[in-house]
Amino acid sequence: MKHLIYLSVSIFLLFSCTQSSKPQQESETEDFSFVFMTDIHITEERQATEGFSQAIDTINSLNPDFVLTGGDNIMDALAVSYEASDSAYNLYENTIKQVNAPVYTTMGNHEVFGLYERSGVSPSHEEYGKKLYENRLAKRYYSFDYKDWHFVVLDGIGFTEDRHYYGHVDEEQLVWLKKDLEAAGDKPIAVSIHIPLLSIGSQIMQSPTQGMDAGSIVTNANEVREILEQHNTKLVLQGHLHFLEDIEYNGIHYITGGAVSSQWWQGQRFGMEEGFLKIDVKGEDFSWKYVDFGWEVKEAS
Ligand SMILES: [Fe+2]
Repeated sequence: MKHLIYLSVSIFLLFSCTQSSKPQQESETEDFSFVFMTDIHITEERQATEGFSQAIDTINSLNPDFVLTGGDNIMDALAVSYEASDSAYNLYENTIKQVNAPVYTTMGNHEVFGLYERSGVSPSHEEYGKKLYENRLAKRYYSFDYKDWHFVVLDGIGFTEDRHYYGHVDEEQLVWLKKDLEAAGDKPIAVSIHIPLLSIGSQIMQSPTQGMDAGSIVTNANEVREILEQHNTKLVLQGHLHFLEDIEYNGIHYITGGAVSSQWWQGQRFGMEEGFLKIDVKGEDFSWKYVDFGWEVKEAS
């Protein structure tokens, strides 16, 4: 009998604990973390695949809810043949499988297939330009919700007539973006785009009087920012520059997320290690840190 009373008291206590802590548990479950990793530049050379696997091991140990890439996932498809581009995509696809969490992908300029004339690829190739990327990895732009947040992935890559790229968000996306953000209501918004919308990169890496060139910044960024500023946009995650910065302008953080490959797998870049961003979200707030996954370039033997 004594045991029975003890048991029923325990059950009651357990039940009442669960009840009373439920609101707190619910708010806790709305918090989440994710990884933004950009400029991986995977290649068979420079021990890049080993380096990327080390990054993935670190990411898995952090157990994020998901991973978002910032583009330049492969070393290059701009200037090489179909065979070389195909094997670069294969290498990336085989390696990214090691990530335990779901992976969302952003397209970088180096994912664009055969754009440079010296690739020898004809624009009439059925997978020319962004088609290879879209067939293999993801749509060039899309959005998704995670818990209370809305995520938007944009394609910031335009083509010039002489087969080069420049930073540009096309009209089709601007029309879509307005509608997509309208539908997101008052949700906090995060955007991923490879070529930055805002950066001080050239001021630091070139000279204080140097502006960004058309290949390093989205040339119609003001149009994009105008749309973002009309909604509850919290952060814009950027890549491309292999540079780490966090600029807050009109209430939006523009974070260029360093590079998994740092100096394209050849060591530090302006003192910056190989790394990625771990972003912790609490309600409408977030914090971030740059995680150095401990890669050291090994001397060639
Ligand atoms: Fe890059």
